[in-house]
Parts: sequence; structure tokens; C-alpha cells
Amino acid sequence: MPGWELIGQEEKAAVDEIFDKGGVLYRYGLDAKRQNIFRVDEFEKQIAQKVGVNHTLFVNTGTAALKLVLIALGVKSGDEVITQSFTFIATVEAILELGAVPVITEIDKSLNMDPKDLAKKITKKTKVIIPVHMAGVPAKMDEILKIAKDKNIPVLEDSAQALGATYKGKFLGTIGNAGIYSTDIGKVITTGEGGLVVTNDKAIYLKAREYSDHGHEQNPKFPRGEDTRTIWGFNYKVTEMQGAVGLAQLKKLDYVLEMQRKNKKRIKDGLKGIKNIEFRELPDEGGDAADTLIFFVETKEKALKLAQSLKEKGLGTKNLPDAINWHYAGTWSHIFKGYKKNLEEVWSQSTNLLRRAIALPIMVNMTDERINEIVEKVKVAIKEVL
Ligand SMILES: Cc1ncc(COP(=O)(O)O)c(C=O)c1O
Repeated sequence: MPGWELIGQEEKAAVDEIFDKGGVLYRYGLDAKRQNIFRVDEFEKQIAQKVGVNHTLFVNTGTAALKLVLIALGVKSGDEVITQSFTFIATVEAILELGAVPVITEIDKSLNMDPKDLAKKITKKTKVIIPVHMAGVPAKMDEILKIAKDKNIPVLEDSAQALGATYKGKFLGTIGNAGIYSTDIGKVITTGEGGLVVTNDKAIYLKAREYSDHGHEQNPKFPRGEDTRTIWGFNYKVTEMQGAVGLAQLKKLDYVLEMQRKNKKRIKDGLKGIKNIEFRELPDEGGDAADTLIFFVETKEKALKLAQSLKEKGLGTKNLPDAINWHYAGTWSHIFKGYKKNLEEVWSQSTNLLRRAIALPIMVNMTDERINEIVEKVKVAIKEVL
């Protein structure tokens, strides 16, 4: 959970500089007043370079970024879009915004999309597949891409939680047709709110950019007031302040990943060999963004007891089990209304895994003492409860 841990003087200086150099907060125009400095443009350029794609678009939220890519891929009312049961609710909201139908797959022990279930859920109406790299851990992209390619269905990677993480050497978000990152407060780097679209597909990029800016085509032949357009859109633009903060935070990304990976390994190593717990499956351990350590215990009841015991010892959990209601489709009765069964039975494989899962947050700023303390407290809690 690092971005907000490391926010400080560098970000403050970057914002101050906007005011020192003209005070233009809008991302476009007033070139002379802003001394030709375009921070949002520069942030997009640096993200593209970092993850190795041709096009990046920075918009106001990751949720908007998802919606924009779905629009660019031509998703319309009544189309089906497949995603997984364990995700933040935003993934499903982006689908619902377009009047499309969210089709939910089970997750497997990686806690990401179960490729076997994906294969079963594809129909003639499936328009897009959205695997989610939950808590920075890559989904099984080889299997997912194979299934998608066989059926000629585009893949949008929801990498909201996974900027900088990789799968077999490739940055998450750059493996499918397009990807998104979030830079909200809980993410690898933060701009308060923010979302990035990354893609090598120019058509996706242009459509997403146009929609995010009322249809503006940014036709170089005309000033903005006389710009051309062929579609109408909406306004999902960011301000220069987010661009400035993003640039300062991006400089810290490698450090964030290095520290998280180091700290996670030490805690995991400390807990290895304990009976009655099983770690989450990691399809590419080295590529994990590593801001969460998840393990399963035997039963739902034991998971709840363990979480309570950890809380009493001053250790929080991260989403599982404390915020499961925002991260599990099996609890979204306000969305999935048509089912006769209890939703937790609809995705019983997911329920079985998620209800037994404990997620520990990994911080960048963890001292050796804190790491040892966490390991010891978790061990004691496990001994007491399991
Ligand atoms: C998996 C996932 N998708 C999408 C989003 C939406 O991102 P944002 O909060 O920037 O709208 C989030 C944010 O938590 C997320 O975790």
C-alpha cells in the first residue's frame, strides 16, 4: 500500500512548480503562460516508456479508464463482458455503465480468473474478457489469452492494483489488447484519484481519448475551439496537479516494488512450514507487486477468528476478510438480482476460497523489528486459533 506512504516533499515541490511557472492547471493550452510545460502529457509519456507500450491515456479514475476501453472496444447494451468474482466492484460497474451484462467466472487458488471456468462462460454474446490482477498478482495470462484468441475476443487487463508487476517478463496491463491502472489512494503509486489506459492499439487509444474529452480529436490543423469530432463523449480529464504528483510518484515506483518484494518475502519465509495454512498460488512469484500476503486457513469460521485475534494484537488485514463485501461478487445482491440461489452458492468455488482467506498488508516502510513482530504475532494468533 505504498504510494501514500511515500508522498511528501517531492510531490509538494512538483505541485508548487505549477504555480511558480504560470499556474495553468488545465492539461491543454495556454502554452506560453505555462512555459510550454505539460505535466499530464509527460506523465503519459513516462508511463508508456516504463511499461513499454505505444499509447497511454491518463484520466480521472481507474473506473473511467475501464469504461473508456470497453467503449473503445465497441461494447454495447446487451453484450456480455466476462470478469472474475474477486475484484473491486468498479470492474463490474464499468460494464454496467454501458448497459452490458457482467458474466462472472470463478477464481482458482491464484485468487484470479479460473481459466477453466472462463472457457465454460464464453457465449456468442461475449464481447470482452477482463482478467483482474488482484493485489498485484498476475492472472494466468497464457491460458486466458489462448482461450480468448481461439474465440477472437479482446482482453482488457484490469491491472488497477498492479502497476509495475510482471508476468513472464511482461508488465501486467500490456499483455492483452489494453490494460488499465489506478492511481487512487490505495495503489502502487497515487495521485489521489487517477486512472491510466495503456495499449499498443492506436484505435483503442484514440477512441478512449476522444470519449474522455467530449469527442475532441485534437486535430492539429485547428485550435481547440474549432477542433473536429465524430463522436460525442464525456469529461474524464485530469488536472496538471495529478500529472505533477504522478511524475514525482513514478520516480519512486522501482523502490516501492523492491521494498514490498523484500518485505513480503521475509514475512512469508517467517510463516513457511506452519501447519494448517496454505499460501495463495502465484503464477509468477518474481513479478508480484507484493503489497499483500494472502493465505488460506481450513474454514470460514477459523478465518474470522484469526482475523479477530490479529486485530486484537494490533495487526490489520487488507480486504480479506474485512472489506470482502466490496471485493466479492457473491455479496453483490444489489447487482445480481436474477439468481434464485444465494449468490455465495452461485460462485461456490470462489466462496470456498475467499471466505477462508486472510490477507496481510505489506508496507514499504517496514522496519526489521516490525517485520519480526508481525511474524511472531501471526504465529501466536495461528497457534491460538487454528
Ligand atoms: C481491481 C480494481 N479495478 C478497478 C478499480 C477502480 O479504480 P479507481 O478507484 O481509480 O476508480 C480498483 C480500485 O480500487 C480496483 O482495485
